[in-house]
Amino acid sequence: MSNITVSTLRKLKQAGEKFTCLTAYDASFSQLLDEAGVEVLLVGDSLGMVVQGQDSTLPVNITDMIYHSQNVRRGSRHALIVCDMPFMSYSTPAQALNNAGRLMKEGGAQMVKLEGGAVVLETVRELTSHGIPVCAHLGLLPQSVNKLGGYKVQGRDAADAQNILQDAKDLQDAGADLLVLECVPSALARTISETLEIPVIGIGAGPDTDAQVLVLYDMLGITPGKRPRFSKDFLAEAGTVSAAISAFVTAVKDGSFPGPEHSFE
Ligand code: KIV
Repeated sequence: MSNITVSTLRKLKQAGEKFTCLTAYDASFSQLLDEAGVEVLLVGDSLGMVVQGQDSTLPVNITDMIYHSQNVRRGSRHALIVCDMPFMSYSTPAQALNNAGRLMKEGGAQMVKLEGGAVVLETVRELTSHGIPVCAHLGLLPQSVNKLGGYKVQGRDAADAQNILQDAKDLQDAGADLLVLECVPSALARTISETLEIPVIGIGAGPDTDAQVLVLYDMLGITPGKRPRFSKDFLAEAGTVSAAISAFVTAVKDGSFPGPEHSFE
C-alpha cells in the first residue's frame, strides 16, 4: 500500500502545496521517481509512443497497460500509481469495470485514468461506486487525436472553455478524485483549479494547477524529434537522471516550472 493516497493529495491542495506527477513505465524509473518524492506515478498510455515507437496512443492495449503497471508497482513504495485505460477499453460502463478491475487486480494500479467529459460520466459513476478511484482527463485528449485533427490547444474560445469547465464540475460530481488538464490556456486551468475541490494536475495548462505532470522521456530529453512547448529537458541542466527528477520536483513545488514559455494563452 502506498502512503500517498487521494486524501494526501486533497490535503496538499487545501494547504496550497503543489505536488508532482511523472509518467513511469518500468521498475527502475519507478524506484528513482519514488525516492525523489514524486507523489503520483502515471503509467501513461504515452508508452505507446515513447516505449513502443507507435505514432499515437491508439494501438496500446489492456495487456500492455497491465504489464507496465506491474513493473511500476514493483519499483514504488510511496507514490500513488495511476494507470491509463487504453483507447476503446472503456467504451461502455460494463467494459470499463472489467478492464479497470484488471488494472487494479493484475496490474497493481491504485487509480485508473480515462479521457473525456460527458461521454464518460456514467462510466465514472460505475467505477467509483465499485471502489475504483478515477482520474479524469480533459482538454487535449490524445486518444481522440483523429477527431481533434491533431495535438492542438483546447478551450481557446469561450464556448469550448465553458464546456471544459462544466465537464470538470460534472466529473467531480460523478466521483472523480483527480483531474488531468492537458494543453488548455492558463487562465482556464486556473479557473478550473479554483472551482474544483479535487486536485487538478496540469500539462501545458500553466502554473496555477495544483500539480504538474510531464512525460518522463520528454523531461529527460530522450523523446526523439521536437519537444512539446509545455515540456522542459531537465536532464540538460541537471546532468544526471536523479538530479533531473529532483530539479523537476523542486521547480514544481517552488512554482518556477512551468514558466510562460511552457504555457498557452
Ligand atoms: O499518457 C500520458 O502520458 C498522459 C499524460 C500526457 C498526462 O496521459
